[in-house]
Amino acid sequence: MTHILYTLVLPLLLLLLQPLHVTPQTWDGIIVTESDFQALQAFKQELIDPKGFLKTWNDSGYGACSGRWEGIKCAQGQVIVIQLPWRGLGGQITSKIGQFQALRKLSLHDNNIGGKIPKELGYLPNLRGLQLFNNKFIGSIPPSLGSCTLLQTIDLSNNFLKGSIPQSLANCSKLFRVNLTLNHLSGSIPDPIAKSNSIMYLALQYNNFSGLIPDSWGSGQNGGKPVFKSLTFDHNFFTGVLPVSLSKLTELEVLSVSHNQISGNVPSELGGLLKVRSIDLSNNLINGSIPLSFQNLTLLDSLTLDHNNLSGEIPVFLGDKLNLTSFNVSYNNLSGSVPTQLFSKFGPSAFVGNLNLCGYSPSTQCPTSASPSTNPSEPLSPQKGGTKLNTKEIILIAAGALIAILLLICCILLCCLLKKKKGAKQKDTEGGVSSAAAAGKGVAPPEAEVAGEAGGKLVHFEGTMGFTADDLLCATAEIMGKSTYGTVYKATLEDGDQVAVKRLREKITKNQREFEIEVNLLGKIRHPNLLAMRAYYLGPKGEKLLVFDYMPKGSLATFLHARGPETPVDWPTRMQIAKGMARGLLSLHTHHNIIHGNLTSSNVLLDENVNPKIADFGLSRLMTAAANSNVIATAGALGYRAPELSKLKKANTKTDVYSLGVIMLELLTGKSPGEAMNGVDLPQWVASIVKEEWTNEVFDLELMKDASAIGDELLNTLKLALHCVDPSPSARPEVQLVLQQLEEIRPETTTSSGDDGGAGPSMSE
Ligand SMILES: *[C@@H]1O[C@H](CO)[C@@H](O)[C@H](O)[C@H]1NC(C)=O
Ligand SMILES: *[C@@H]1O[C@H](CO)[C@@H](O)[C@H](O)[C@H]1NC(C)=O
Ligand SMILES: *[C@@H]1O[C@H](CO)[C@@H](O)[C@H](O)[C@H]1NC(C)=O
Ligand SMILES: *[C@@H]1O[C@H](CO)[C@@H](O)[C@H](O)[C@H]1NC(C)=O
Ligand SMILES: *[C@@H]1O[C@H](CO)[C@@H](O)[C@H](O)[C@H]1NC(C)=O
Ligand SMILES: *[C@@H]1O[C@H](CO)[C@@H](O)[C@H](O)[C@H]1NC(C)=O
Ligand SMILES: *[C@@H]1O[C@H](CO)[C@@H](O)[C@H](O)[C@H]1NC(C)=O
Ligand SMILES: *[C@@H]1O[C@H](CO)[C@@H](O)[C@H](O)[C@H]1NC(C)=O
Ligand SMILES: *[C@@H]1O[C@H](CO)[C@@H](O)[C@H](O)[C@H]1NC(C)=O
Ligand SMILES: *[C@@H]1O[C@H](CO)[C@@H](O)[C@H](O)[C@H]1NC(C)=O
Repeated sequence: MTHILYTLVLPLLLLLLQPLHVTPQTWDGIIVTESDFQALQAFKQELIDPKGFLKTWNDSGYGACSGRWEGIKCAQGQVIVIQLPWRGLGGQITSKIGQFQALRKLSLHDNNIGGKIPKELGYLPNLRGLQLFNNKFIGSIPPSLGSCTLLQTIDLSNNFLKGSIPQSLANCSKLFRVNLTLNHLSGSIPDPIAKSNSIMYLALQYNNFSGLIPDSWGSGQNGGKPVFKSLTFDHNFFTGVLPVSLSKLTELEVLSVSHNQISGNVPSELGGLLKVRSIDLSNNLINGSIPLSFQNLTLLDSLTLDHNNLSGEIPVFLGDKLNLTSFNVSYNNLSGSVPTQLFSKFGPSAFVGNLNLCGYSPSTQCPTSASPSTNPSEPLSPQKGGTKLNTKEIILIAAGALIAILLLICCILLCCLLKKKKGAKQKDTEGGVSSAAAAGKGVAPPEAEVAGEAGGKLVHFEGTMGFTADDLLCATAEIMGKSTYGTVYKATLEDGDQVAVKRLREKITKNQREFEIEVNLLGKIRHPNLLAMRAYYLGPKGEKLLVFDYMPKGSLATFLHARGPETPVDWPTRMQIAKGMARGLLSLHTHHNIIHGNLTSSNVLLDENVNPKIADFGLSRLMTAAANSNVIATAGALGYRAPELSKLKKANTKTDVYSLGVIMLELLTGKSPGEAMNGVDLPQWVASIVKEEWTNEVFDLELMKDASAIGDELLNTLKLALHCVDPSPSARPEVQLVLQQLEEIRPETTTSSGDDGGAGPSMSE
């Protein structure tokens, strides 16, 4: 009966609602409430379902919450998720939708649903996500949505909506993604929206918006900070100038206002947007020069200014922007010469259509060696206007020039260095290692991003995964396993992304403040052979979830022991795993001062390239001292546990090396330490056979096929592994030495040195 527990697929939220020891099937029989059942019937009735997906909604309601009704997820007899994307549905949404009092997510995108968006959605106090994009909705956006105070995401893109943006949307103080792209919306952007301190993504492109872009960005009240990351307003009819207040959006990464009727200058204050990566102002009526303040946009990688009325010269520093991967100033009124780096990188098409610009094609060669600083038409040069200079000014200018020359030399040196480094970095990055991990100590700065949730919070360590707390809670979850620390789920987000979620046992974790300090340290750890923590979630009732990368190949234990004879694991692969584990453990011991304490082949996961990633490290730091002194810290799974631990009760680097040695023996023998070998453990069994000089008997038969070629490697690795499992801790090597010897036994044929920050082993051996 218990296996049912492991095959049930339920929303993570539902799994969280119950204490860890209760099995989910107790919820199976819960009957949907009368009010939700009526609403479901009305919902089905008003939809057209040509492909028959809703045929499963056939019984008297008993099964609505059993998981058998397509697209319905419940909690305690109430519908919390309606999720029916790509089902070919037509018709319209019933006004009875307001009856789903517990509904958190309504996702009907990519269908043919028409009619109006029901104003009754405003009656849903729990609504977090509204995904209605790629449908045929008409009418306007109901202002009542402003009453959904927990709303986080609203995507109505690609419909036929008219009217303006209701300013009441700014009342949704958790709202962080708004997508209204590709509709017929008109009017301007309401002031309260521009003042929002919650919206990160505001996508309004391809509409009929007009009027001025408001100048109230970042002036929200209550001491909050604006968090806008992306403003995309392109393909509309906005007029007027670019508001200076945009420069208050310190988190802004993407700004696109192309294809509008914006005039005036580019405010130099925009140079203060230090996180901006992409600016697209093309196809407007913008005049004036390219602001010199852009010099400060270190991260800028795309600058698109074509089809405007910009004049003056292209600032020289743009040529030194190594990160610039896209640049276009064609069809403006720019003059002077094109910095050679820019021209060689982007070619003539990025510069055509500027009558007075030279040096970007054979037919536009610059007269003589006109350098920008001596060009008399330079509009921004300080000498302009021919004012007389006094001695003091001359001295200042001379000093300035000297500094400029020194800076230039520094720049050139830096460029050379950076180029060299870049080359080296690229090498390191091969094999799927993130560049952040390859840099320096393998520790990336955390880009923590907090998304609110009623009473709970989700903190991302990297901005790359765009899920919200609610996406996570509504994700479909499957129990993968349980351990002393808690339960692990495989969670599938709506967009198909998978993550591993570990729910910690609440009673044994530290209090929230201490927990957060520790988890923020663990979340910063990045190494190609250590499983990265991507986010954590603190629930309103003290639930604690850790979110990790999901490893599709599972654990080393299953990879090695649960396979058929038709899928052999060759020696180079086993060696790659051994070295990777040693690298990961070395990083834990030396850079992070972490003892693993429970290293087993089940805690070593494999990515798609069979690179090992050590999981479950550092978790004891999240637990109370009392919990730790009780078994947990020393619980190291039987078979991997160093003998002295039974007395010592405290793991250390040598007990970790013992566990590593056991896993190396697993790789060599193909046997699991759990397997009974006449009542002795794996190290004892191997040692006894070696002692009787039948050494070849210990190796996995699979490996013996190639014994003539790899015999020495097998023997030397066996010696090393036995060294690691020496009963006397002082006789065991430190992991650094283990790694060094593994690398001597089988030198890396492809990638770099064994430096611990370096690349993981590659498969190409
Ligand atoms: C409802 O539909 C499912 C799947 O189509 C079917 O297995 C089940 O027997 C039906 N139940 C009733 C009561 O019609
Ligand atoms: C939004 O909040 C303002 C005041 O904070 C209130 O006057 C207005 O009625 C609210 N709108 C909605 C739709 O809740
Ligand atoms: C908005 O919707 C459009 C069209 O559906 C999509 O291409 C775009 O990526 C979305 N933007 C955001 C920020 O969600
Ligand atoms: C767009 O707005 C203009 C007025 O600004 C109006 O004349 C035009 O009909 C609108 N177009 C659509 C498709 O709504
Ligand atoms: C750009 O940086 C320089 C110093 O490097 C500073 O003096 C200047 O004020 C900055 N400009 C802006 C717009 O932040
Ligand atoms: C830019 O255009 C505005 C009118 O839109 C004009 O007032 C201003 O003088 C122009 N500036 C430059 C530098 O041409
Ligand atoms: C290039 O961008 C990266 C981050 O994307 C940043 O760390 C680096 O400093 C940038 N380099 C330059 C020269 O701006
Ligand atoms: C571009 O600016 C010049 C003045 O700098 C002005 O004469 C011209 O009309 C402007 N062109 C457009 C299309 O606005
Ligand atoms: C281009 O700019 C110059 C000043 O630099 C101005 O005299 C000229 O009118 C502009 N031409 C156009 C076509 O805007
Ligand atoms: C620059 O923009 C023009 C006009 O949109 C386009 O034809 C050209 O291909 C672009 N060049 C580059 C390098 O992006």
